[in-house]
Amino acid sequence: MSRPKNQNYKGHGLSKGKEREQRASIRFKTTLMNTLMDVLRNRPGWVEVKDEGEWDFYWCDVSWLRENFDHTYMDEHVRISHFRNHYELTRKNYMVKNLKRFRKQLEREAGKLEAAKCDFFPKTFEMPCEYHLFVEEFRKNPGITWIMKPVARSQGKGIFLFRRLKDIMDWRKGNAGKKLTSLEAQPARSTANPSGSHDARSSDDQKEDIPVENYVAQRYIENPYLIGGRKFDLRVYVLVMSYIPLRAWLYRDGFARFSNTRFTLSSIDDQYVHLTNVAVQKTSPDYHPKKGCKWMLQRFRQYLASKHGPEAVETLFSDMDNIFIRSLQSVQKVIISDKHCFELYGYDILIDQDLKPWLLEVNASPSLTASSQEDYELKTCLLEDTLHVVDMEARLTGREKRVGGFDLMWNDGPVSREEGPPDLSGMGNFVTNTHLGGHLSSSSPALAPSHG
Ligand SMILES: Nc1ncnc2c1ncn2[C@@H]1O[C@H](COP(=O)(O)OP(=O)(O)O)[C@@H](O)[C@H]1O
Ligand SMILES: [Mg+2]
Repeated sequence: MSRPKNQNYKGHGLSKGKEREQRASIRFKTTLMNTLMDVLRNRPGWVEVKDEGEWDFYWCDVSWLRENFDHTYMDEHVRISHFRNHYELTRKNYMVKNLKRFRKQLEREAGKLEAAKCDFFPKTFEMPCEYHLFVEEFRKNPGITWIMKPVARSQGKGIFLFRRLKDIMDWRKGNAGKKLTSLEAQPARSTANPSGSHDARSSDDQKEDIPVENYVAQRYIENPYLIGGRKFDLRVYVLVMSYIPLRAWLYRDGFARFSNTRFTLSSIDDQYVHLTNVAVQKTSPDYHPKKGCKWMLQRFRQYLASKHGPEAVETLFSDMDNIFIRSLQSVQKVIISDKHCFELYGYDILIDQDLKPWLLEVNASPSLTASSQEDYELKTCLLEDTLHVVDMEARLTGREKRVGGFDLMWNDGPVSREEGPPDLSGMGNFVTNTHLGGHLSSSSPALAPSHG
C-alpha cells in the first residue's frame, strides 16, 4: 500500500540547520476518540482525514501498525505514533529479557557496580518457558508473594497473586480461567498471532488476541510505600523521538494512582487492595467519581519532601531518571529506529518503603481517557506538548532543552540542566535535565512555542 506523493506539501524553507518545508495544512488521522481527538481537532492548521485519505500525521493504534506499517510508504515529513517493534519495551516479557541482557552486557563491559544500576525491576520469569527456573527461585524463598501477569494485556486484566506452588501448577494445567475470573478478568482468547511470538503489546485502549499461556511470574513488592494506608503507583510519561541516537524527553506532570482499600498482605485475592489500575479501582464500591483516585505528581513530591526532606526526594527522583534512561538503553539497539516514528510511553513505577522505585511495566498506549477535570487538563497539555516536540510545523530550532512540560532528558548522552557540559556526579551517575513533579511554570527557561 504505497501512497502517491503528497500534493499538499509546499516547500518554503524555514531554518532548522537544514532547509525545512512548511505545510499549508497538516492532515492528521487517528483511531482514538478521547482527549487526543480534542487536541488534534483544536490544533491550528491541522485537518482531519477520514478513511483512506492521505495523512501527514497518524496517531495509530498498535494493531494498525502491525498490519500496515511494513507496506506503507511514508514521505520524509510524515510522522507516526509508534516504533515498529515497540513491544520490545512494552511487552512485559520482552522488557525483562532486554533488561537482563543489558545488565549482563554492562557487567562484562563496566563491572558489577555499573550493572547493579539495572536492579530496578522485580525478579521476573517468563511462563511457561522459564517455569523450572522459577520453581528453583520459588523454593529458595518460601512464603513470599508472587504476581502473575499476562505479558500483553493491560488495565490489570488477567493478573493474580499467589504464594503456593500448587496455584501455579493448576494454572499450568490450563486452569487459568478459574483464577482469571477471581480477579474479574476476561478470559483471554487463545488465538495464535500470525506474526509469531513477536506480536504487539495491547494498550490501555484496546485488547488484543493473545495466547492464555503467556505470562510473567514476578516477585510481588510486599512493602509498597503507603499514603493513608493505601498503595499507589506512579504514571510517568516519556517521549522518545529517536533511538539512534537516543533522544528522549521527560514530562514534568504525571500522577500517583491510589487503591481505594487499605493495604494488607492477608487477602491476596482482593484486586482492589493490590492493583492500582484506574480501570480496576473505578469498579470498586468505595470509588467516588468526584474524588477519583489520583494525585498529581507535584502534590506527591511535596508530600514526600515534607515527610523525608528534599534530599531523599532528589535521590528518589534521580533513581527514577536512571530507570527511564537505562530501560531505553536496554532496547536502543533492538528497536528499529525510524525517523518517521515517535512514541509517548507511560511508565508504571512502584515505590517501596525504602523509597526505592521499581519498574513494573512500560505502556505503548498509555490511557488518554480522562477520569476527572484535572486529569483532562493534564492529558490535554501532555498531548499538546507532545505535538510541539514532534514539531510537524517545523517551529523548533532543534536546540531546545525544554518544550512546554517536556524536558530533554537524554540527547545521545545526559543533558545538563545548565548551559555547558553535562554534570557527572559520584560513581558515574548522571544529573540530567529533568524536573519530574516540578512546576510547569518554573523559573527555568520555557521554550514552549505559543499554542497559536
Ligand atoms: N511486582 C509487583 N509488585 C507489586 N505490585 C504490582 C507488581 N506488578 C504489578 N503490580 C500492581 O498491579 C498493577 C498492574 O500491573 P502492571 O504490570 O502495570 O500490568 P497492567 O498491564 O495490567 O497494568 C500495577 O499498577 C500495580 O499496582
Ligand atoms: Mg500497568
